[in-house]
Amino acid sequence: MTADTFDSRDVVVEMTDVHAGYLPGVNILNGANLIARKGELIGIIGPNGAGKSTLLKAIFGMVQVRGGEITVNGESIVGLKADKLVRRGVAFVPQTNNVFPSLTIEENLQMGLYQNPKIYTERLEFVSSIFAELGTRLKQRAGSLSGGERQMVAMSRALMMDPSVLLLDEPSAGLSPVRQDDAFIRVSDINKAGVTTIMVEQNARRCLQICDRGYVLDQGRDAHEGTGRDLLNDPKVIGLYLGTLGDAA
Ligand SMILES: Nc1ncnc2c1ncn2[C@@H]1O[C@H](COP(=O)(O)OP(=O)(O)O)[C@@H](O)[C@H]1O
Ligand SMILES: [Mg+2]
Repeated sequence: MTADTFDSRDVVVEMTDVHAGYLPGVNILNGANLIARKGELIGIIGPNGAGKSTLLKAIFGMVQVRGGEITVNGESIVGLKADKLVRRGVAFVPQTNNVFPSLTIEENLQMGLYQNPKIYTERLEFVSSIFAELGTRLKQRAGSLSGGERQMVAMSRALMMDPSVLLLDEPSAGLSPVRQDDAFIRVSDINKAGVTTIMVEQNARRCLQICDRGYVLDQGRDAHEGTGRDLLNDPKVIGLYLGTLGDAA
């Protein structure tokens, strides 16, 4: 689908001129803008410390939003706490500590559904269609899994609630190259199954290869926006952000 076939009803997440920060008087986001439309896979890349994680935290109510607006399905979500955000359809997979290691895979998945346990069987079926290997190992403790497998459990847990939008913070971080590749394929599969997804990645090249549109975040602002392909071929983006990153991908 091209951008001009969308109308405003298709907008799932919209961030407009968002300013946000952790410490008094210090903003990390300095006028960030982003739109994610229904069914899109959005990539966010940018240097370390640019505010990529902070941008996801701003959507998920984990950092103080001091200016601008964030809407999900047309309604403001600024100031809402996690449980309300989950009800509005926002699912967040943080970069680390994103599973309960002492719980089994099954219990982790159930935690993802605490607001609506009735749909467990139906959602497990959906999640198993993407992560088939988890379905056969439900009684295994998450703490005994490899990094790549934990990431799968974390994404599965987030998908259990049938979210309007899935926020992923560096799903490939800390994985071996083969596992990284697998992580990108899984994210792509999730999106192809219809889930609107916003993914932050330090593996910029690989991220732009699979996303519909991308944003380059620099010093808390969106410095460039475009289709994944356009950004990959944009000399300014290459020079500043892709030069040495992810060449192998
Ligand atoms: N909990 C926090 N308290 C104070 N400053 C933070 C916190 N988390 C991140 N920061 C600061 O915000 C800036 C952006 O961090 P982050 O959003 O994690 O960047 P990125 O994900 O792009 O690497 C950094 O300068 C970082 O030190
Ligand atoms: Mg980060």
